[in-house]
Amino acid sequence: MRLYIESQGCQMNERDAERLAGGLLNDGWRLAKNPAEADLILVNACSVREKAVNHALGRLRQLFGLTRKRPNLLFGLTGCLAQHLGTEAREMVPRLNLLTGPGAIKRLPVLIKTLHGPDDFAFDLDPADDLTPVFDSEGDYRSAHPAIGPHAAFVTIMEGCDNRCAYCVVPYLRGPEASRAPEVILAEVEHLTQKGFSEIILLGQNVNSYRSNSYRFPRLLREVARIPGIRRVRFITSHPKDLSRKLMKVMDSEPAVCEQLHLPLQSGSDRILRAMGRGYTTGHYRKLVQLARELVPGLTLTTDLIVGFPGESEEDFQQTLELVREIGFDSAFMFKYSPRPGTPAAELPDDVPPETKQERLVKIIGAVTESAFRRNRELVGERLELIVEGTDKRGEPYGRTRGGKRVKLPGEIHRPGSVCVAEITGAGPRSLTGRQVEA
Ligand code: 5AD
Ligand code: SF4
Repeated sequence: MRLYIESQGCQMNERDAERLAGGLLNDGWRLAKNPAEADLILVNACSVREKAVNHALGRLRQLFGLTRKRPNLLFGLTGCLAQHLGTEAREMVPRLNLLTGPGAIKRLPVLIKTLHGPDDFAFDLDPADDLTPVFDSEGDYRSAHPAIGPHAAFVTIMEGCDNRCAYCVVPYLRGPEASRAPEVILAEVEHLTQKGFSEIILLGQNVNSYRSNSYRFPRLLREVARIPGIRRVRFITSHPKDLSRKLMKVMDSEPAVCEQLHLPLQSGSDRILRAMGRGYTTGHYRKLVQLARELVPGLTLTTDLIVGFPGESEEDFQQTLELVREIGFDSAFMFKYSPRPGTPAAELPDDVPPETKQERLVKIIGAVTESAFRRNRELVGERLELIVEGTDKRGEPYGRTRGGKRVKLPGEIHRPGSVCVAEITGAGPRSLTGRQVEA
């Protein structure tokens, strides 16, 4: 039997897709290169914003077209979106055979055996099992991800979230915070190094609240970074209210820990931050950034921003614009606020008109692009270590700096996964250009 799986949303979801596939591969399944060759198609989908939901449902309907030639094809919707829609998903996408949430990854291989034909339907939206403190990874299957190199692997260190930001649906879908035991994580990383991986990306909705036995995140990070064979370690996501000086010290002192921090700001207005329930002020955020830049020289700082949260006035938005300009991010994910059913913010009037949300989004993208461009230009002339990740659409190789920036290496030949030092010769808002100066 052949599986085709597509994943959408965050890196956590991408890792979950690997675990879903890993469980089936352990059970004798094979992977299909394209959906037309599969017996089972899984769409592991995100529900963090309405746009992601529509995207996933649209993709499923498109894939249903394959049943004209393959009437027995089975379809599954998995991940956050499955959890979010519940069994009502069946009314929205009638040809569905399988529905499983993020808590059911381990149980997929058993559940699949109950499906015998295109009219069958099975679901598991039980959050239990995988959300217990110790969960094992399903086999050790790792797939290619367009955003990371073939030498890099995702490792989930914790699940769920206890923060309850007013806009966010994640805590309701992925349950309360649960950390994996450090021994399990360290063993998984060691195993990955034996398979040739040299870069690890530690994943959690809020890695800074990692806690298992006597381990907190800084200690776990240090021990992962010291495993022989590990060249780079990154982590996402850090919540500003929990980012500690201790963590910054580990970032500075451990050579393998990359100088990169993803620190979602969300808004530059204290009034809106309070309404969002974020638990920090803009003053605290500023101080954190100042400290991080002092303690971790060469830091790349990225963020998430939401425009048009309920009650966001023009003045609130201007404060966000100003803070974004002042801090100078290297890049950002920027979103229009989208009410999510079941969240506290969904009870508030979604009172910023769509045109205003769009205008604010365009302005904030402009501000981030400007600061990213400025920060990239400052790197021209520097010599930076790159790990080559692959080739772009034009066949030109590109690598990534320790700070996570993409560097094109036009006209050169490099093996993916190889390391070199490049001099930065040009900068754009989204990437750099360089040439190799040392192998
Ligand atoms: N509307 C818009 N953006 C959202 N995010 C999370 N929930 C929402 C929502 N309801 C954004 C936040 C978060 C990122 C993963 O998605 O910026 O950090
Ligand atoms: Fe990731 Fe949140 Fe989307 Fe789930 S809802 S895939 S946790 S971003």
